[in-house]
Amino acid sequence: MAHQLNLDQARERAEELRRQINYHNYRYYVLDSPVISDFEYDALLNELREIEAAYPELQTPDSPTQRVGAAPREELPTVPHRVAMLSLDTVLNADELGNWVRTVQQAAGRENVTFTAEPKFDGLAVELVYESGVFVMAATRGDGYTGEDVTPNVKTLRQVPLRLIEGNDAPPAPALLEVRGEVYMRLEDFTKLNRQREERGEPVFANPRNAAAGSLRQLDPRVTASRPLSIFLYDVGVVEGYEFPTQTDVLTTLPRWGFPVCDQWQQAESLEDLLAYYASMSERRQSLPYEIDGVVYKVNDRALHEVLGERTRSPRWAVAHKFPPRQQTTRLRDIVWSVGRTGLVTPVAVLEPVNIGGVTVSRATLHNLDELERKDVRVGDWVLVQRAGDVIPQVVMAIPERRTGEERRPEPPDRCPACGAPTVRLGDPYLRCMNLDCPAQIRGRIEHYASRRAMDIEGLGEKLVAQLVEKGLVRRLPDLYDLDVETLAGLDRMGHKSATNLVNQIERSKRTTLPRFLYALGILHVGEGVANALAEALGTLDAVMNASEEQLLTIPGIGPEIARSVCEFFHEERNRQTVLDLLAKGVKVEADTAAIGGGELVGKTFVFTGSLATLTRDEAGELVKQRGGRVTDSVSSKTDYVVVGEAPGSKLEKARRLGITTLDEFEFRRLVGLD
Ligand code: IVH
Repeated sequence: MAHQLNLDQARERAEELRRQINYHNYRYYVLDSPVISDFEYDALLNELREIEAAYPELQTPDSPTQRVGAAPREELPTVPHRVAMLSLDTVLNADELGNWVRTVQQAAGRENVTFTAEPKFDGLAVELVYESGVFVMAATRGDGYTGEDVTPNVKTLRQVPLRLIEGNDAPPAPALLEVRGEVYMRLEDFTKLNRQREERGEPVFANPRNAAAGSLRQLDPRVTASRPLSIFLYDVGVVEGYEFPTQTDVLTTLPRWGFPVCDQWQQAESLEDLLAYYASMSERRQSLPYEIDGVVYKVNDRALHEVLGERTRSPRWAVAHKFPPRQQTTRLRDIVWSVGRTGLVTPVAVLEPVNIGGVTVSRATLHNLDELERKDVRVGDWVLVQRAGDVIPQVVMAIPERRTGEERRPEPPDRCPACGAPTVRLGDPYLRCMNLDCPAQIRGRIEHYASRRAMDIEGLGEKLVAQLVEKGLVRRLPDLYDLDVETLAGLDRMGHKSATNLVNQIERSKRTTLPRFLYALGILHVGEGVANALAEALGTLDAVMNASEEQLLTIPGIGPEIARSVCEFFHEERNRQTVLDLLAKGVKVEADTAAIGGGELVGKTFVFTGSLATLTRDEAGELVKQRGGRVTDSVSSKTDYVVVGEAPGSKLEKARRLGITTLDEFEFRRLVGLD
């Protein structure tokens, strides 16, 4: 398609596509109400990509194809704010609020002053700059006068329009528009991100605000792109070419240009209105999908802002009214260790029950060993506990001033509290139980063992696994092979027919291949790619079980973490026994080392350019070949993928010219199943 267009036609089509994509992006990410399918959206984006690949001169910085892809930076440059980004004064109660309202009325010389009342979002303040409707710059608040330039990072937020929406009843784009708001993380996204990080052995974020700030202030925008950030806009800085007479105008005009504005704001006519808003938001706070730490009242008439003016760090035309903190101090009675579904053994604080924001808290997480050490929390300590939205309560810190000397440092257990197997540490801040049969993990283990790309036992889903474990029918993986039709037919929602099918499926799954079996064991860091590599290099189950760390390290695609994990896993006597028991039940691990995917890359040709950070060229090439693909040296129209590392050569230009798909290292790792 793209190559059939001449330059002028291509330019016109690219503009039209950008306009459409921009609009659908807004429908999807801001309004949460798409009007086309994902498939149609992808088709538009792909068409635009093709045009831009064929005519690189048509690429523009505000093109939706340019959200991710900027190179990592050495540091975040600083940028001055044209108008200082001030902070807010706080009122603590109705009296102080009343005083503020009176001051405003006096300055106005009249009683009927109107206000807006808005949530106070708990995130990171940013400024976005648009020139003639095109996004050109984003900066953090910094010290209020100078911020950090986070332009490439903010560009990755799908909610941020790269160009103002036209039509949509919106006024024409002003010559200059500075909009201000808060980057935040939704509670659900925060919990999910922390869970992922926990599973990968990465440090967790203490709260959504830290997660948002840490994710935005990254040197590599690709990291920001991988984090679920959201944004609300609530203020403007310098504007040239448009007038906002009131704050209400700001809050109603920004959405028409495509900006996300929180719909929880209200106009208020009196002190009573403001207090009623505060009361209603205190209630609603619990059920909002993001954190707010109070409300903000602003004088509606922006001409009055000028009259009221500013103190050094805060304006007189706005105040914050905070909610009571969701923190309390209490005694830490004990530290117990809890085993999660993935085998992480985490410290949990047992507290003297304490009421925090209407909820009684008696347990709080201490996350991991590093956190425990950093906070130096001891049994018997007075501690500060925090509840953040729906998130599990956390111990913020110990209060060493209140120690009596009776306090006791916690000892990480050397055995799993759920099964008694030795705990291991694999070079990260987590303690793990690696026992395949650990009762705390067995459900997840069975689900994974039965999954399609592992042993592929159809019909053994989550609900059935739960029943089998609850009824004590399966305590260890080998027990699966003792299940009979009669027992299964007696379970909820199982008839004779489905029971027979399942038994047949289990029987059928006994014949398997080495990569599948290794993958099915659910060894930490052993995904399909690694399982394939192990099988290919070592050939037999026996060899894998007895390989030394040094030996494993010589295998392409296997680094120290994986080697350590595999060794520790088979070092555990219980796991060796489980494997032997599985074989004794009739599981046949065929010497066939055919990759799990059966050569997903058959017929695909790869070219590498530039150096990769996590793999050598040989290792990367090996991964392609294991999956049935080919590696060649030069780019031609027959090339399917060009993998682009650091400092790529002319091959990249050629790939772009020919419109060949390029992959960065992360995309490549994902494609071959390493990540
Ligand atoms: S207006 C000069 N509106 O609170 C006033 N700020 O403590 C400009 N904040 O740095 C800010 N929600 O990060 C405004 N609805 C809201 C807000 C809000 C949160 C933050 C903002 C500011 C801080 C001041």
